[in-house]
Amino acid sequence: MGNYSKIYQSWQQQPEAFWAEAAKLIDWVKPFDKIQGELDGLERWYIGGQCNMAYNCLDRHVNAGLGDQVALIYDSPVTGKKQQFTYAELLVEVDAFACVLQNTQIAKGDRVIIYMPMVPEAAIAMLACARIGAIHSVVFGGFAAPELAARIDDCAPKLIVAASCGIEPNRIVEYKPLLDEAIDIAAHKVEKTIILQRSEHVAIMHDGVDEDWQELVNTVKATDQQCAPVAVLATDPLYVLYTSGTTGTPKGVVRDNGGYMVALNWSMKAIYDIDAGDVFWAASDVGWVVGHSYIVYGPLLQGATALMYEGKPIGTPDAGAYWRVIEEYKVKSLFTAPTALRAIKKQDPEGKLMADYDLSAFEVLYLAGERADPDTIKWAEQHLKVPVIDHWWQTETGWPIAANPMGIEQLPVKYGSSAKPMPGYEIVVVDDEGVPVAANATGNILIKRPMPPGCLPTLWQADEVLNEKYYANFEGYYETSDAGYLDEDGYLFIMARTDDIINVAGHRLSTGAMEEIIAGHKDVAECAVIGIADKLKGQMPIGLLILNDGVNRPHEEIEVECRQMVREVIGPVAAYRTSIVVERLPKTRSGKILRATMRKIIDGEAYKVPATIDDPEILVELTARFKDVGLI
Ligand code: COA
Ligand code: AMP
Repeated sequence: MGNYSKIYQSWQQQPEAFWAEAAKLIDWVKPFDKIQGELDGLERWYIGGQCNMAYNCLDRHVNAGLGDQVALIYDSPVTGKKQQFTYAELLVEVDAFACVLQNTQIAKGDRVIIYMPMVPEAAIAMLACARIGAIHSVVFGGFAAPELAARIDDCAPKLIVAASCGIEPNRIVEYKPLLDEAIDIAAHKVEKTIILQRSEHVAIMHDGVDEDWQELVNTVKATDQQCAPVAVLATDPLYVLYTSGTTGTPKGVVRDNGGYMVALNWSMKAIYDIDAGDVFWAASDVGWVVGHSYIVYGPLLQGATALMYEGKPIGTPDAGAYWRVIEEYKVKSLFTAPTALRAIKKQDPEGKLMADYDLSAFEVLYLAGERADPDTIKWAEQHLKVPVIDHWWQTETGWPIAANPMGIEQLPVKYGSSAKPMPGYEIVVVDDEGVPVAANATGNILIKRPMPPGCLPTLWQADEVLNEKYYANFEGYYETSDAGYLDEDGYLFIMARTDDIINVAGHRLSTGAMEEIIAGHKDVAECAVIGIADKLKGQMPIGLLILNDGVNRPHEEIEVECRQMVREVIGPVAAYRTSIVVERLPKTRSGKILRATMRKIIDGEAYKVPATIDDPEILVELTARFKDVGLI
């Protein structure tokens, strides 16, 4: 039996002993009374334990003599700036900003929204919140003001910490007007903001509301004020991270302190094979779960060096950008989305730019966030000559569900599979009635409850939505809303979502949310948004619109307006560009639009005309229309 099987079995046989052992690697202020159980109707880990995330990420390492080791590297090709912080230096910055938060009357349990690009201050703000037990909620910079407002209303922050701008290769994204608009729209009134002024664009400040980050930090540093880490319960929330749900309202995934710390710490070695001192680069954004778990908290818990990269895989300045960073900082492992690799491959199909850099320190490439197509994996393997590891997880779980655990044992790679379940996760694949299906048969992927440490205990102030969305359909199991299969060797293949979520360039988006917006266009009678296959971004949203009777404006105008509406409500990240006017939409007799059937027609996949279809002729009409507009 290989190491993976032994470890997985040891967890299966004694799950509590397994997670008690993993918890020993964390410093606790007070040991937990009960390792796992139900509290107020929710599944909880390390009940009664007290701890502090920032202490475990920083003070613990400084106390152990790692103070001079680099904790955080900032590399920003879009501004030309580079900066490094040792553990001791990062602790000073986090401590100072934690004092600023306290001076702003932020205390344990208060919510703080962080709306910042990939700058070190974003990580500092997160860790400072963690230090005082405030609950942060980071909002991705590619979202528009209404999305930010929805988050303000849901988590009711006392404070918003923002930067004056983010930088995209083609433009400066001014955050302050978006922030002001969001505060204006939101029903919950935010009293204070702290703004990090960036030299690339200086925001206009409002007296009495907006405070300057640097001034506040300088004031603290001029005194001897310090901020001791505040002990929080293992079960207290560390953060709320919003993610797309099946409606326009995003869901606030709650992450606790203790379970998350233990699980991340375990995963850094077991899954990513990262030790203290190694450089780990997750090329994502702090606005996503990958950014929380593997740009900030995971590497720091492990005493490794985290890397914040403010740039893109291509265009900043070219498709060799990732290889330059790997060489410059001796990155041991890179974690990125398959889209980024496809973008690089498109511009540098022969991998010529890789040859310009010394990649000798580079050991493993990890891919997640969307399906990794075998061609892309093989291309990366061939050119980088390192293992390329697909692994699968969700915002809800906070760390990988299935992976090839490089720190335990490298399992043989099967292309298209995210390998095997990690300890903590027992996966079953079932049909819609909950009956397990045979090996290689596709079905709903479920995880047996209780979920392991680190996974969501609940949704922010929405326990009932948690039950409805994740627990109601299959008793005793968490419903992942992913469909796929386990093969005869227990390898997992993730094939599709079972809900209306699509994955565009590794970004999780709700087509339902886009439909809600487009349906609000004055000329649109009805619409359906579907995600169709895209060679670069994995999927792209397209809208199929039925116009109101009598509308005879050029369709191009309506298309541009719909594009603009989605951009203004969700944000540029939705990448909604294409609308097609159709006469009718195919529906079941009960009125459900047959979105999956339309997607299959466009993607050229085999499909069966659903038995419940109201009028099969519509599919013939639509196929002709899709041909007309060049979609097929
Ligand atoms: N702030 C503001 N706007 C942002 C943004 C941010 N943080 N991130 C993306 N956007 C904007 C882009 O500028 C673009 O705007 P545009 O319509 O004005 O051009 C739009 O959102 C769509 O962005 P994206 O889908 O990323 O496409 P792109 O063509 O700009 O870039 C890639 C293509 C492949 C380079 C890019 O998608 C990429 O780096 N993908 C990897 C994503 C990733 O790592 N995800 C990790 C999740 S785990
Ligand atoms: P997010 O919550 O943004 O991390 O998105 C999670 C979703 O992305 C999952 O439910 C899957 O649909 C998809 N996903 C993530 N990783 C993979 C992967 N390795 N293979 C296929 N799909 C993935």
